Amino acid sequence: MAGSPQIVRTVPDLRARVAAWRAAGETVAMVPTMGALHAGHLSLVKLGLERASHVVASIFVNPAQFAPHEDFDAYPRGEGRDAALLGEAGCALIFAPGVAQMYPPGFATRVAVDGVSGPLEGEKRPQFFGGVATVVAKLLIQCGPDVALFGEKDYQQLLVIKRMARDLDLPTEIIGGPTVREADGLAMSSRNAYLSVEERKTAALVPVVMAQAVERLRAGVAAEAVEAEAIARLEAAGFGPVDYVQAHDGETMERLGPGPVGAGARLFVAAWLGKTRLIDNWAV
Ligand code: PAF
Repeated sequence: MAGSPQIVRTVPDLRARVAAWRAAGETVAMVPTMGALHAGHLSLVKLGLERASHVVASIFVNPAQFAPHEDFDAYPRGEGRDAALLGEAGCALIFAPGVAQMYPPGFATRVAVDGVSGPLEGEKRPQFFGGVATVVAKLLIQCGPDVALFGEKDYQQLLVIKRMARDLDLPTEIIGGPTVREADGLAMSSRNAYLSVEERKTAALVPVVMAQAVERLRAGVAAEAVEAEAIARLEAAGFGPVDYVQAHDGETMERLGPGPVGAGARLFVAAWLGKTRLIDNWAV
């Protein structure tokens, strides 16, 4: 049902609203976000409404998943715009806690997920998955949804959250939603807002390079060669550094190659364009 979503900022208020729905026999989906919403987030709200009576979206720029040198302060924020978009998409409730609500003085717990969080983002951003797993565990415990939805654009994050929810026996089904892309194929991301007009044109090369690399992997070309070619093409277009172009198993995140890769492989990319770090992944 479209309309202005109610905004709550405390865990008791969130729980009271969810309890009222539960008392009426209704179900709940949660879409955790850091705000700066785009069509990718809204597609998750739509998926949530297919799975539950109500969708709760959280908006919280989580300091625990940013390293001190990263873009926590610069991360785009705009609660009014986000609330309007969520309302149009049919979201009923927004949970927008402050930092003190999520991390009160003395907060000392961190959720660490081994295995799937090891490579790629785990190597490049060592603080990231601990911060994500901690905040998502808290959000799911605070809200208690039947299902929670996360975009496949952050595919490794989705695997980390699935593993965490299973390992901690959280009674929430974790569902991935397909990556939503701009007309030229660039994966939607809140951080695309950092790109200059020129950089935005160059960024469109990422899906082109990835699509061709995936075709080469499907044709049986060795992963090592495909990855090196893709990195060279991105660098030649002005990307740098290219943090990685790597094939990994889409369930275990085990590194694949150097030879041809088989079924279940996924190709991951992370590359800087000026001050913007773009990530994407494609199923092989
Ligand atoms: O993908 C994001 O926006 C964030 O990492 C998440 C899952 C909301 C946790 O802060």
